[in-house]
Amino acid sequence: RNCAKILGIETSCDDTGCAIINEKGDILGETLHSQNLIHLRYGGIIPDVAQDLHRKYIEPTVHKTLELAQLNWLDIAAIAVTLEPGLPLSLAIGMKYAKHLSRKYNKPLIPVHHMEAHALVARMQHNISFPYLTLLISGGHCLLALVQGVNKFQLLGQSIDCAPGEVFDKVARRMKLRNIPEYSQLCGGRAVEMAASKATDLNLFQLPLPLVDHKDCNFSFNGLKTSVMYQLFRKEKEHSIEADKLIPEANDLCAALLMTTSRHLVHRTQRAMDFCHNNNLLPDEKKQLVVSGGVACNNYIFNTLTELCNEFDYKIYRPEPKLCTDNGVMIAWNGLEKWQRNIDVVSKNINSLDIKA
Ligand code: KG4
Ligand code: ZN
Repeated sequence: RNCAKILGIETSCDDTGCAIINEKGDILGETLHSQNLIHLRYGGIIPDVAQDLHRKYIEPTVHKTLELAQLNWLDIAAIAVTLEPGLPLSLAIGMKYAKHLSRKYNKPLIPVHHMEAHALVARMQHNISFPYLTLLISGGHCLLALVQGVNKFQLLGQSIDCAPGEVFDKVARRMKLRNIPEYSQLCGGRAVEMAASKATDLNLFQLPLPLVDHKDCNFSFNGLKTSVMYQLFRKEKEHSIEADKLIPEANDLCAALLMTTSRHLVHRTQRAMDFCHNNNLLPDEKKQLVVSGGVACNNYIFNTLTELCNEFDYKIYRPEPKLCTDNGVMIAWNGLEKWQRNIDVVSKNINSLDIKA
């Protein structure tokens, strides 16, 4: 178990990812086939289309990764693969292919929970010991958890409706931000971030801060999304905006959305910190917050969370952007952490691994 090379496969949503890492967490090879541009054309992810693309790209993605690492199957100790959560049709392709490889090359399989992988990958490049607090923000999820061990997570709160990345993606599309050439290839969150950075009036729109009176660590973004859509509609009427045109206040509205989202995230994270403190869950030397998931790429959000951490004496960590969004490396890393502790390593009965999604 001391010199293990683990191959990781990720297909939970719209990215076909594969990576090989060694026992130290060095990335020996990585490949990511993103379906983003294709889904942009359809205006969102269609599960059947995503599945077809995974089916088409999974084998070349894995082969290319081995080639980049200059390794063959004899060098690989085990295969880690995303089990859940995600789009069932997408997950099924990764799992089916991983099982095929496991049989063909006689390799143990290690099932990985996608969100746990987001939370653990920060340990690959930073010295973060258990326990720590994590805030996972992406296009499909928003949650706060206490990470007590490789397979020991205590959920403190989660979104009661949609996820922040989903709101950014929908608002960007509805606002027609991609009609601006420099945003045309960007995901919604990045487009909103760029537009917000050009805002001139930060007080033009007042959006409601969600769940202010709720004494828990849950999140809600539906009300925020509805408010933004309503303001957009109102401004379009006011200016008699035609199809394909943006409202003149687009940058200010993006800034209001981003600022309110950040305030909500900070508010709930502070509640989680209080909860950990009041219940003695995090000793002083373990006051650490890991922020991950695609939305963690957002520098405005990260900076406001950094201010919170400074105030409460927490260290803050975030994986580099390519490891925040979905990727094969985090699956390989989670696989390695399980392999080293002999957790969930399935050598026989691989058929027992079924997609729950
Ligand atoms: O983790 P991820 O790759 O996939 C999911 O599991 O959802 O996250 C993708 C999400 C998308 O909604 C995208 O708009 C958002 O992350 N995102 C961002 C930024 N970059 C990506 N949101 C805000 N600011 C960014 N810079
Ligand atoms: Zn994800």
